[in-house]
Amino acid sequence: MNPIPATMRVADVEKPGGPEALLIRERPTPRPGPGEVLIQVAAAGLNRADILQRRGFYPPPAGSPEWPGMEVAGTILAVASDVGEFGPGDAVCALVAGGGYAEYCVAPIGQVLPLPAGLDLLQAASLPEAYFTVWSNVFDLARLRAGERLLVHGGASGIGVAAIQLARARGAVVFVTAGTDDKCRFCESLGAQRAINYRSEDFVAVIRAAGGGVDVVLDMVGGDYLPRNLDALAPEGRMVIIATQGGSSAKLDLMKLMQKRAMLTGTTLRSRPLAFKAAIKAALLREVWPLFDSGVIRPVVDRVFAFDEVAAAHAYMESGAHRGKIVLDLRR
Ligand SMILES: NC(=O)c1ccc[n+]([C@@H]2O[C@H](COP(=O)([O-])OP(=O)(O)OC[C@H]3O[C@@H](n4cnc5c(N)ncnc54)[C@H](OP(=O)(O)O)[C@@H]3O)[C@@H](O)[C@H]2O)c1
Repeated sequence: MNPIPATMRVADVEKPGGPEALLIRERPTPRPGPGEVLIQVAAAGLNRADILQRRGFYPPPAGSPEWPGMEVAGTILAVASDVGEFGPGDAVCALVAGGGYAEYCVAPIGQVLPLPAGLDLLQAASLPEAYFTVWSNVFDLARLRAGERLLVHGGASGIGVAAIQLARARGAVVFVTAGTDDKCRFCESLGAQRAINYRSEDFVAVIRAAGGGVDVVLDMVGGDYLPRNLDALAPEGRMVIIATQGGSSAKLDLMKLMQKRAMLTGTTLRSRPLAFKAAIKAALLREVWPLFDSGVIRPVVDRVFAFDEVAAAHAYMESGAHRGKIVLDLRR
């Protein structure tokens, strides 16, 4: 086992701005507090929220490191005395509220998971944020059931590729939107029954033509998608907003909401309490990790960047060219 060095390299943002604002810096290596483990990070997943944080719009919750990074995979180096679940040398992945872009990272035990069978650390780093988010919103909150229909906006996003596979594996029929025909075909190859190019097709018209409407919408666009989501919804349908890339205000016909007995909600994961996240971890271990173990679902890593290329990785995400997840490799 490697000794724990006094300092480590992190990718920090000293002045909010473009990708070039991310600079590799030395910071003190953290030590695990009660209920925590220290991970030697091999890989860190990128998330759209990291870009907001880099631009100065999404500060980490109090108590988290100030540098970005919400998911990691690596090897446990040290565990707090009250942690019995993992030990030094174990390969794990973890959801963290911040600080993942670093050689070492502390994670609460309720957010640490083993690697699914056959996956490497780069693949495992792409899982926590998307699967915690999709499980809690689509299955816990919106209660998507087998035989129901799900519409996912941003089907080719990191969140989208998880939602498509998981919903399909659990017996739902999945519709998605995406911005190019190529992304649409990719989403269909992952299990979407119909991917809708939102630049050339009207998703409400396509879903109505398929008959019946969708039971659940997972929406990362917001804005003027909201009334259209309601139009695409079946009676008793549920809409969950997880981002507002298209605007945070919307006008909604409340008569339609009443007539459909529809439900509208929204959530953010990062600021939720440890116990809430620990409950999602338990569900992922029970319901989702076995699907990775058996190869029913798989990680979708579009591209891996070296840690020193973190600015290029952010620029790539902002270009919108990716399909699935982007990962930083801390070992090169
Ligand atoms: N609330 C939460 O707890 C939570 C947790 C995790 C993530 N999120 C949010 O979920 C979103 C996805 O995160 P990510 O890391 O997976 O990001 P990502 O891979 O960069 O994906 C962003 C996606 O948004 C899609 N998009 C943008 N405008 C669209 C539109 N008008 N119609 C349909 N799709 C549109 C893009 O699709 P095209 O490229 O095809 O245009 C792209 O696939 C982000 O907004 C993130 O903030 C929220």
